[in-house]
Amino acid sequence: MSKIILDLCGGTGSWSRPYQQAGYDVRIITLPDYDVRTYTPPLDVYGILAAPPCTEFSILNCRAEARTRHPEVGMEIVDACFRIIMECRPKWWALENPVGHLRDYLGLPELTFQPWEYGDPWTKRTDIWGHFTHPPKLYTRWEDVPNKLHLYTRPNRGKPNFAYLHKSALAQIPQLQWANPQTDADFRAITPPGFAKAFFAANP
Ligand SMILES: C[S@@+](CC[C@H](N)C(=O)[O-])C[C@H]1O[C@@H](n2cnc3c(N)ncnc32)[C@H](O)[C@@H]1O
Repeated sequence: MSKIILDLCGGTGSWSRPYQQAGYDVRIITLPDYDVRTYTPPLDVYGILAAPPCTEFSILNCRAEARTRHPEVGMEIVDACFRIIMECRPKWWALENPVGHLRDYLGLPELTFQPWEYGDPWTKRTDIWGHFTHPPKLYTRWEDVPNKLHLYTRPNRGKPNFAYLHKSALAQIPQLQWANPQTDADFRAITPPGFAKAFFAANP
Protein backbone atom coordinates (compact mmCIF):
# COMPACT_ATOMS: atom_id res chain seq x y z
CA MET A 1 0.00 0.00 0.00
CA SER A 2 1.27 3.47 -0.91
CA LYS A 3 1.95 5.97 1.84
CA ILE A 4 -0.81 8.56 2.22
CA ILE A 5 0.20 12.20 1.91
CA LEU A 6 -2.35 14.97 2.57
CA ASP A 7 -1.77 18.25 0.73
CA LEU A 8 -4.02 20.60 2.72
CA CYS A 9 -5.05 23.77 0.86
CA GLY A 10 -2.92 22.27 -1.90
CA GLY A 11 -4.16 24.44 -4.78
CA THR A 12 -2.35 23.20 -7.90
CA GLY A 13 -0.66 20.42 -5.90
CA SER A 14 2.82 21.74 -6.61
CA TRP A 15 4.21 20.87 -3.17
CA SER A 16 2.98 17.26 -3.23
CA ARG A 17 3.78 16.72 -6.92
CA PRO A 18 7.11 14.95 -6.29
CA TYR A 19 5.30 12.51 -3.97
CA GLN A 20 2.59 11.93 -6.58
CA GLN A 21 5.22 11.33 -9.26
CA ALA A 22 6.97 8.83 -6.96
CA GLY A 23 3.74 6.83 -6.57
CA TYR A 24 2.58 7.98 -3.12
CA ASP A 25 -1.17 8.13 -2.43
CA VAL A 26 -1.47 11.93 -2.52
CA ARG A 27 -4.78 13.52 -1.53
CA ILE A 28 -5.06 17.21 -2.41
CA ILE A 29 -7.55 18.68 0.03
CA THR A 30 -8.39 22.00 -1.54
CA LEU A 31 -11.39 24.11 -2.51
CA PRO A 32 -13.75 23.77 -4.27
CA ASP A 33 -13.80 19.97 -3.90
CA TYR A 34 -12.68 19.80 -0.27
CA ASP A 35 -12.82 22.21 2.67
CA VAL A 36 -10.26 21.61 5.43
CA ARG A 37 -12.78 22.93 7.97
CA THR A 38 -15.08 19.98 7.38
CA TYR A 39 -12.62 17.33 6.16
CA THR A 40 -12.33 13.99 7.93
CA PRO A 41 -8.90 12.46 7.27
CA PRO A 42 -8.35 8.78 6.57
CA LEU A 43 -6.43 6.43 8.87
CA ASP A 44 -2.67 5.91 8.50
CA VAL A 45 -1.68 9.27 7.06
CA TYR A 46 2.10 9.28 6.57
CA GLY A 47 2.88 12.95 5.91
CA ILE A 48 1.01 16.27 5.77
CA LEU A 49 1.77 19.38 3.76
CA ALA A 50 -0.33 22.48 4.45
CA ALA A 51 -0.39 25.79 2.59
CA PRO A 52 -3.29 27.81 4.06
CA PRO A 53 -4.14 31.10 2.32
CA CYS A 54 -1.83 33.99 3.21
CA THR A 55 -4.33 36.72 2.32
CA GLU A 56 -4.99 37.77 5.91
CA PHE A 57 -1.35 37.48 7.00
CA SER A 58 0.38 39.01 4.03
CA ILE A 59 2.37 42.17 4.50
CA LEU A 60 2.27 42.90 0.79
CA ASN A 61 -1.46 42.32 0.11
CA CYS A 62 -2.62 44.41 2.98
CA ARG A 63 -0.26 47.27 2.21
CA ALA A 64 -0.96 47.21 -1.54
CA GLU A 65 -4.72 47.11 -1.17
CA ALA A 66 -4.73 49.39 1.87
CA ARG A 67 -7.22 47.12 3.50
CA THR A 68 -7.73 45.88 7.02
CA ARG A 69 -6.46 42.41 7.80
CA HIS A 70 -8.84 39.87 9.30
CA PRO A 71 -6.46 37.39 10.88
CA GLU A 72 -9.29 35.52 12.60
CA VAL A 73 -10.58 34.56 9.14
CA GLY A 74 -7.13 33.29 8.13
CA MET A 75 -6.63 31.51 11.46
CA GLU A 76 -9.83 29.53 10.97
CA ILE A 77 -8.15 27.73 8.06
CA VAL A 78 -4.80 27.42 9.88
CA ASP A 79 -6.64 25.94 12.91
CA ALA A 80 -8.41 23.45 10.64
CA CYS A 81 -5.04 22.33 9.24
CA PHE A 82 -3.70 21.87 12.79
CA ARG A 83 -6.80 19.87 13.78
CA ILE A 84 -6.12 17.46 10.92
CA ILE A 85 -2.40 17.25 11.78
CA MET A 86 -3.21 16.51 15.46
CA GLU A 87 -5.78 13.91 14.51
CA CYS A 88 -3.48 12.11 12.05
CA ARG A 89 -0.21 12.28 14.01
CA PRO A 90 1.81 11.81 10.80
CA LYS A 91 5.49 10.91 10.65
CA TRP A 92 6.22 14.45 9.45
CA TRP A 93 4.23 17.60 8.74
CA ALA A 94 4.92 21.09 7.43
CA LEU A 95 2.83 24.25 7.12
CA GLU A 96 3.93 27.12 4.90
CA ASN A 97 3.14 30.80 4.47
CA PRO A 98 4.98 33.72 2.92
CA VAL A 99 6.89 35.61 5.61
CA GLY A 100 4.26 37.79 7.26
CA HIS A 101 1.86 38.05 10.14
CA LEU A 102 1.32 34.33 10.68
CA ARG A 103 4.51 34.60 12.77
CA ASP A 104 2.48 36.70 15.23
CA TYR A 105 0.39 33.59 15.93
CA LEU A 106 2.75 30.65 15.43
CA GLY A 107 6.04 32.20 16.53
CA LEU A 108 9.26 31.81 14.60
CA PRO A 109 9.26 29.11 11.91
CA GLU A 110 11.49 26.06 11.62
CA LEU A 111 12.78 27.20 8.26
CA THR A 112 12.68 30.30 6.07
CA PHE A 113 13.72 30.05 2.44
CA GLN A 114 13.83 31.82 -0.87
CA PRO A 115 12.83 29.83 -3.97
CA TRP A 116 16.19 30.62 -5.62
CA GLU A 117 17.98 28.84 -2.77
CA TYR A 118 16.48 25.64 -4.22
CA GLY A 119 17.11 26.56 -7.85
CA ASP A 120 13.96 28.44 -8.93
CA PRO A 121 15.27 31.85 -10.08
CA TRP A 122 12.87 34.16 -8.27
CA THR A 123 12.14 35.44 -4.75
CA LYS A 124 9.23 34.87 -2.36
CA ARG A 125 10.45 34.59 1.21
CA THR A 126 8.53 31.74 2.77
CA ASP A 127 8.24 30.37 6.32
CA ILE A 128 7.75 26.70 7.18
CA TRP A 129 6.58 25.48 10.56
CA GLY A 130 6.39 21.81 11.48
CA HIS A 131 8.22 18.63 12.26
CA PHE A 132 10.31 17.55 9.29
CA THR A 133 13.87 17.11 8.06
CA HIS A 134 15.25 20.37 6.69
CA PRO A 135 15.95 20.15 2.97
CA PRO A 136 19.54 21.37 2.47
CA LYS A 137 19.69 24.61 0.47
CA LEU A 138 21.42 24.26 -2.88
CA TYR A 139 22.54 27.88 -3.37
CA THR A 140 23.63 30.59 -1.00
CA ARG A 141 24.44 33.18 -3.69
CA TRP A 142 22.00 34.38 -6.37
CA GLU A 143 24.94 34.63 -8.79
CA ASP A 144 25.35 30.85 -8.63
CA VAL A 145 21.72 29.99 -9.50
CA PRO A 146 21.65 28.55 -13.04
CA ASN A 147 19.02 29.03 -15.75
CA LYS A 148 17.89 32.55 -14.87
CA LEU A 149 14.61 33.53 -16.57
CA HIS A 150 13.36 36.72 -18.24
CA LEU A 151 10.80 37.58 -15.57
CA TYR A 152 9.57 41.06 -14.66
CA THR A 153 11.90 42.63 -12.10
CA ARG A 154 10.97 45.86 -10.33
CA PRO A 155 13.24 48.85 -10.85
CA ASN A 156 16.31 48.82 -8.62
CA ARG A 157 15.73 45.20 -7.60
CA GLY A 158 18.20 42.53 -8.58
CA LYS A 159 15.79 39.60 -8.61
CA PRO A 160 12.25 38.98 -9.85
CA ASN A 161 9.71 38.68 -7.03
CA PHE A 162 7.06 36.02 -7.71
CA ALA A 163 4.46 38.05 -5.82
CA TYR A 164 4.63 40.75 -8.51
CA LEU A 165 4.18 38.45 -11.51
CA HIS A 166 0.98 37.87 -13.45
CA LYS A 167 -0.10 34.43 -14.53
CA SER A 168 0.93 35.26 -18.11
CA ALA A 169 4.52 34.85 -16.82
CA LEU A 170 3.85 31.11 -16.67
CA ALA A 171 4.86 30.87 -20.32
CA GLN A 172 8.41 31.93 -19.34
CA ILE A 173 8.84 29.31 -16.62
CA PRO A 174 9.74 25.87 -17.97
CA GLN A 175 9.53 24.14 -14.59
CA LEU A 176 5.83 25.15 -14.22
CA GLN A 177 4.51 24.12 -17.64
CA TRP A 178 2.38 21.41 -16.02
CA ALA A 179 0.45 23.97 -13.92
CA ASN A 180 -2.84 25.57 -14.88
CA PRO A 181 -3.52 28.40 -12.42
CA GLN A 182 -6.83 30.17 -13.02
CA THR A 183 -5.98 33.53 -11.51
CA ASP A 184 -2.93 35.67 -10.68
CA ALA A 185 -3.46 34.76 -7.02
CA ASP A 186 -3.43 31.03 -7.86
CA PHE A 187 -0.25 31.53 -9.86
CA ARG A 188 1.54 33.53 -7.17
CA ALA A 189 0.64 30.88 -4.56
CA ILE A 190 2.33 28.01 -6.41
CA THR A 191 4.92 26.29 -4.24
CA PRO A 192 8.28 26.57 -6.01
CA PRO A 193 9.01 23.19 -7.60
CA GLY A 194 12.70 23.19 -6.63
CA PHE A 195 11.76 23.50 -2.97
CA ALA A 196 9.07 20.80 -3.38
CA LYS A 197 11.63 18.44 -4.87
CA ALA A 198 14.19 19.12 -2.13
CA PHE A 199 11.53 18.72 0.58
CA PHE A 200 10.54 15.35 -0.87
CA ALA A 201 14.17 14.19 -1.04
CA ALA A 202 14.65 15.10 2.64
CA ASN A 203 11.29 13.67 3.77
CA PRO A 204 10.59 10.53 1.70
C1 LIG B 1 -1.88 29.63 -0.60
S1 LIG B 1 -2.81 28.68 -1.73
C2 LIG B 1 -1.77 27.25 -1.84
C3 LIG B 1 -1.34 26.99 -3.26
C4 LIG B 1 -0.36 25.86 -3.39
N1 LIG B 1 0.87 26.13 -2.64
C5 LIG B 1 -0.01 25.59 -4.84
O1 LIG B 1 1.15 25.18 -5.08
O2 LIG B 1 -0.85 25.76 -5.72
C6 LIG B 1 -4.13 28.18 -0.73
C7 LIG B 1 -5.13 27.29 -1.40
O3 LIG B 1 -6.06 26.88 -0.42
C8 LIG B 1 -7.36 26.86 -0.97
N2 LIG B 1 -8.28 27.02 0.15
C9 LIG B 1 -8.73 28.18 0.72
N3 LIG B 1 -9.57 27.91 1.73
C10 LIG B 1 -9.64 26.55 1.82
C11 LIG B 1 -10.35 25.67 2.66
N4 LIG B 1 -11.17 26.13 3.61
N5 LIG B 1 -10.19 24.34 2.48
C12 LIG B 1 -9.37 23.87 1.51
N6 LIG B 1 -8.70 24.66 0.65
C13 LIG B 1 -8.81 25.98 0.81
C14 LIG B 1 -7.35 28.01 -1.95
O4 LIG B 1 -8.34 27.81 -2.94
C15 LIG B 1 -5.94 27.93 -2.51
O5 LIG B 1 -5.88 27.11 -3.65
